[in-house]
Amino acid sequence: MTTRLTIRTPDDWHLHLRDGAMMEGVLPHSARHFGRAIIMPNLVPPVVTGDQAAAYRDRILAALPEGESFEPLMTLYLTEATNAEDVRRAAESEIIRAVKLYPAGATTNSDSGVRDFDKVRGVLETMAEIGLPLCVHGEVTDADIDIFDREAVFIERVLDPIRRTTPGLRVVMEHITTYHAEQYVRSAEENLAATITVQHLMLDRNDMLVGGMRPHYYCLPILKRREHRETLVRAATDGSDRFFLGTDSAPHPTHKKEAECCAAGCFTAPIALSCLAEVFEAAGALDKLEKFVSQNGAAFYGLPQHTSEITLEKGAPLELPNFVETGSGPVTVFDPGQPLHWRVV
Ligand code: DOR
Ligand code: ZN
Repeated sequence: MTTRLTIRTPDDWHLHLRDGAMMEGVLPHSARHFGRAIIMPNLVPPVVTGDQAAAYRDRILAALPEGESFEPLMTLYLTEATNAEDVRRAAESEIIRAVKLYPAGATTNSDSGVRDFDKVRGVLETMAEIGLPLCVHGEVTDADIDIFDREAVFIERVLDPIRRTTPGLRVVMEHITTYHAEQYVRSAEENLAATITVQHLMLDRNDMLVGGMRPHYYCLPILKRREHRETLVRAATDGSDRFFLGTDSAPHPTHKKEAECCAAGCFTAPIALSCLAEVFEAAGALDKLEKFVSQNGAAFYGLPQHTSEITLEKGAPLELPNFVETGSGPVTVFDPGQPLHWRVV
């Protein structure tokens, strides 16, 4: 039985760090285990220009604990007013590594997102030309579409038309939650990949809803039925190149989660790797963990693999932290609902 696993340093291809006191509180928990992360731009106000991304990057680097070599990979928030030349300049100077598309109103701080996709066609053409990936929050926001169907409908109504109109565009479908998305990615050309979160690999909607509502499991896209989760586990663990980790770790102060209308997001960063080792071990695929967390994402983004390594060890069930203190109040840490045995040593 494997009890020790050494892999290249992992990266997180979808991370919310926020800003200010919250960022300072949560950043060490990603920097401890991950070498790089794609940093989401949905601040208030959002990060929409290259200059704003550079300034945000400086704030993150300034908040890094001594001795950590974490590299934030910045993104721009796509709006209908995004300037293609600004995107080109920021990409060429390596200030940004992707642009993020939020359909307007899809999730936390997405009000400035895109309503009319024709208005962003020029930016998408430029991105295709320079090979800059588009990260996509793949849910429609139409009030008449059931929340559990929003991802599948997005593929048909929005994503597939965008990819047909701009064929060279590299796209990451973020935090996929359904077999519709998994199938779409597998059957597409190699310029389409997907990230998968920890919570969507471990939980289904029953975990969130049966016996009472658990607000700390509420995230967007919402947890789906068990069959979808099983498909995602296969996608992550079967050695495919197209799927990689994007935790979507999304901290909110506990009082905003435990509220009448709770904020969406699971704060998984502190225990993400322990969770994943458990998932991959249960699937008999510990040997594929490195591909999912350390190799596929770097390959898709055209970045070098890390030469540094981390080691995970299996032992007695871990004492999991209940919350992390931040200057914006305590943030409850994701509880996977099962014992975890793997720790990063
Ligand atoms: O659950 C989520 N939380 N999904 C998102 O897309 C955004 C995120 C956040 O920013 O809190
Ligand atoms: Zn996110």
